[in-house]
This record gives sequence, C-alpha cells and structure tokens, in this order.
Amino acid sequence: MSDSKDVKGKGPSSNEPAQTNETPTDETPAAAEPSSKKHKLFGSKKEQDGADEGASGTKNKMSEKAAEMLLEKNPALKNEMAGLDREQAAAALRKMGLEELLTGLSLKGKNQKDMASYKFWQTQPVPHFNEKGKGEVADGPIKIIDPERVSREPDALIEGFEWATLDLSDEKELSELWDLLTNHYVEDDNAMFRLRYSQEFLHWALMSPGWKKEWHVGVRATKSRKLVASICGVPTEIRVRDQKLKVIEINFLCVHKKLRSKRLAPVLIKEVTRRCYLNGIYQAVYTAGVILPTPVSSCRYYHRALDWLKLYEVGFSPMPTGSTKARQIARNQLPSATSTPGLRPMEAKDIDAVRDLLDRYLQRFQLNQAFSREEIQHWLVNQVPTEAEQVVFSYVAEDSETHKITDFVSFYSLESTVIQNAKHKGVRTAYMYYYATETAFNADEKAYKERLLMLINDALILAKKARFDVFNALTIHDNPLFLEQLKFGAGDGQLHYYLYNYRASPVPGGVNERNLPDESKTGGVGIVML
Ligand SMILES: CC(C)(COP(=O)(O)OP(=O)(O)OC[C@H]1O[C@@H](n2cnc3c(N)ncnc32)[C@H](O)[C@@H]1OP(=O)(O)O)[C@@H](O)C(=O)NCCC(=O)NCCS
Repeated sequence: MSDSKDVKGKGPSSNEPAQTNETPTDETPAAAEPSSKKHKLFGSKKEQDGADEGASGTKNKMSEKAAEMLLEKNPALKNEMAGLDREQAAAALRKMGLEELLTGLSLKGKNQKDMASYKFWQTQPVPHFNEKGKGEVADGPIKIIDPERVSREPDALIEGFEWATLDLSDEKELSELWDLLTNHYVEDDNAMFRLRYSQEFLHWALMSPGWKKEWHVGVRATKSRKLVASICGVPTEIRVRDQKLKVIEINFLCVHKKLRSKRLAPVLIKEVTRRCYLNGIYQAVYTAGVILPTPVSSCRYYHRALDWLKLYEVGFSPMPTGSTKARQIARNQLPSATSTPGLRPMEAKDIDAVRDLLDRYLQRFQLNQAFSREEIQHWLVNQVPTEAEQVVFSYVAEDSETHKITDFVSFYSLESTVIQNAKHKGVRTAYMYYYATETAFNADEKAYKERLLMLINDALILAKKARFDVFNALTIHDNPLFLEQLKFGAGDGQLHYYLYNYRASPVPGGVNERNLPDESKTGGVGIVML
C-alpha cells in the first residue's frame, strides 16, 4: 500500500495553460509552448507532422524527425528520455502509442513492469494486470482473512532497525514524523520541489475519528533512535458502487533516502496490513503516482496559477513562447470579490446540512467516501486559529430567505519546499477538496455547470486572498466540467487509485484516451486522498 502523489503533479511541467475556447492568442495552447518541461496537446492527430498513420503504424515507422517533434510537444517525456541512451529511448518510444506521446503521458505509466516483475505486489491480494480485458469483474474481496491466522508478531527488520508505533499526540513524535517527511517525502522528478506537510496538517490527516496509534507505523535505527521510515493509515468507510466497505486510508509511506531500494517498503506495507487485519479491517484505499497492480482508476493533475510570477520564478510555470510576464499575469488575474450569493466560511452549525448535501452529492460517484457526522466535523470545520497555519478552508452558500445550505466548497493547504531557489523557499498550494451543490440534482445540466463554474471560481478567489500561489485539482468528481474553462493547466502528474484486497471493475478517472478532461468520463472517483 502506498499513498498518493508524484509530488501531487507538482513540477515545472505542470502548469500548462488550459485549453479554452478563447480566441487564439499567444496564451492559448497552440502557442503556449513551455520553455522546457511542459507538455500539451493541440491540433488533431492529422496535423502532427505527418504522424497520421495511427498509433500502431507510428510505433514502428516513426522517423527520427517525427519523434523529435513529438517529443517537443511532450516535454515531460522528453525530460525522461534525456536520461536514456539512444537505443533505450527508441525502444521506449516504440512502446508508446501516438496518442500517448501527444497527450503528455510520460514513460512512468508505460514503464509499468509485467506482473512477474512486481516481486512484492504479485504476492499481495490485489488484482493482476492480466485480469483486465476479461470483461466485467464481480466486485468483492479477493481474500477472506481469518484473524486467528494473522501473525501476532511483525516480520523481522534488517539488522540495526526496529519497529515503532508512533504516538502522534506526543508533540515530539509528531515532530519526528514531520522531520522525516520534510526531508525525505515526495519530490518531483527533477528534485526541485518536495511536499512539506505542516505539523497541523499531520495532526489533521492522521488523527481523524477512529484513529489508532497502531496504524502509525515507524521504523527506528536501534542505536540512534532516529525515525527512518513510516507508513500511516486512518480508518473510514467508502462506497464502491453499491457496497459499503470499512477501509483504512493509507498515506505517508516514506523511507529515508539512505535506506532506499532495500525492500523496506514491502515490509512496511505488510506490517500495516497485519495491524489492520488484527483490528478487523481487511480492505484499504491508497493512491500513488506510480503504476502498481492494478489501479481501479487513473486521474490527472491540473494546476491553476494564482501567483503566476512566483510560479515562474521558482521554475514551476514556464513562459509560453511569444508571451510576456505581463500577459501571463493578466491572463491569470481573478476578480477581487466572490459571486456566489450567501457564500461564507463553514461553521460548526453547518455540519448536518453539509453532511446531508455532500452525502447525496458524493453518491453520484462510483467510488466515494461515506462520511460520518464526526468525520464531517473533523475534515471540514477549520480548527486552526491562524490563517497561515490553517489546513482546511471550507465555505457554504446559505440561501438568504430559506437559510438552507445550497452549496459547499473546500480546499486544503499543502506547501512544497522549493529545494534550491535564492528568492523563494516554498510554494503555497491549495488543493481542491470536497464540494457539492443542490443544482447537481436538477435535470438542468447547463445550470449545474454554470453554478459549478461560479462556485469553483470563488474558491480560486478565496485561495488567492489567503495567499496561495497555485490551486491544484485532479480530474476526479465533476472537475472536468470546469478545469479548462477556469484556466487550469494540465500537469504531468497522474494519480492512480488503488484498493487493497478488493476487486472492482474500473472506475472512470475523468480523462479520455488522450488523457484530457472529458465530461463523459465523470461519475467515477469521489474520494480525495491527502
Ligand atoms: C516510495 C518509497 C517508500 C519506496 O521505497 P524504495 O526504497 O524506493 O523501494 P523498496 O526497495 O523498499 O521497495 C520496492 C517495492 O516497493 C514498491 N513500491 C514503490 N513505490 C511504491 C508506492 N508508492 N506504493 C506502493 N509500493 C511501492 C515497488 O513496486 C517494489 O515492489 P515490487 O517488487 O512488487 O515492484 C520511497 O521511494 C520513498 O520514500 N519515496 C519518497 C516518498 C514517496 O514517494 N512515497 C510514496 C508516495 S505514493
């Protein structure tokens, strides 16, 4: 089991201007070619330098020049190719289809090993790749666990290391976990940014209703007592179509950089699994930027610049060819005031109304979270007094006449360290969290979309006011309805959703075969993993 993110799609390649219906200018996709690492799609397949033979033809016949041009349009891939010699690069290209080359999928996904090479994962109760294509699979547990037969003892660790159970209510232990993650957690491929979860964030993410310290697993160096690895989980309930499951959400799988590639991750995964089994939890949900056997859904990161200039200065946003700083800043300008009538911060008194609205809304998605009242309170009501440290930002729209809560929107705060930059130390990122609106239940699709555009644009305005630099969203929920229109740019990060010990037929990830947001591919994922 692992957690999410591939630096949550962070990285300079991740701020492509959105595909909009605007009049083409130097800022529309056709001209907005990034400097180095951004990929994008423009034109139809036929317009791409003679590369109109179809994916299979292209695989074998692509000329060097065509390959070069294609790579120019997919800088994320180009960057990965830079580390390969000529032959390896040619072989990798042959493995990829034209569509993939054009739409910014990088090698990582394609680098998926065959099942036999997943030495650890092939031993786990997860669906194998080759189960795909056999048509509909019946949803259900893969292995029935007999708790009596679960080992009472953890597996042995390599010499010099020992298991630890972290007590995160102890500030010292919370700080130790924070320290490990701050220095060793998820980075982008170029080691320019590293996720930096605050201590308030870890408190919020790991001490949710029902949490147990047994599920906050660490590894310590026996002599120095230093914390060198972690894997954590919190319990919750999810729905996979019509089935409700008690699961653990796994996050913060991390191994100290000096201990990488020593097969510690599988041992951590097995240990947290053992501790879950002993506590009567037999399924898990987790996300990862890497391909493992086998995603139940795959989504893509999108990024909306709030402070374009800063993103440019730290190397996150490239300058589109022919554009200027002034134009980019103007393009990403937002109104100063919100538009949704009655929009205000969510308070404790709104918990029941938000729960009712959100629960109905989330059931529109095949994979969704079934929040209890306590969870709504924990996850959505801000408990932190200062805005600088605030983790979750939630807002409701209250009808002035009926006082009914008609809309709800939220985002959470997660900084990234800028690893080497003289001017900026960090990027403040707002991540789209849960939202819901009564208009979703009307038959009028157009009104729903318009309401969503207003609500999410307001979330951008509020995030900007709270000094966030960028707003990230995945192609989950109904996000494909607003991403491009609200000027979110395609990232190069994919996020794969996984279920442990549960087989489920695939759930749409909001993107089409060209890896672009597609309104007809919504209705799949309704869970946000931190
Ligand atoms: C992810 C991480 C813990 C893996 O550790 P590692 O030392 O590179 O790998 P190990 O030698 O211990 O283990 C390799 C096994 O773990 C699997 N693995 C690697 N990353 C994984 C992930 N994110 N989730 C689950 N399994 C993962 C590999 O597929 C491999 O198993 P296989 O033989 O079945 O293919 C480590 O690279 C790390 O801390 N990275 C930074 C933080 C991070 O990315 N965390 C995961 C976020 S999704």
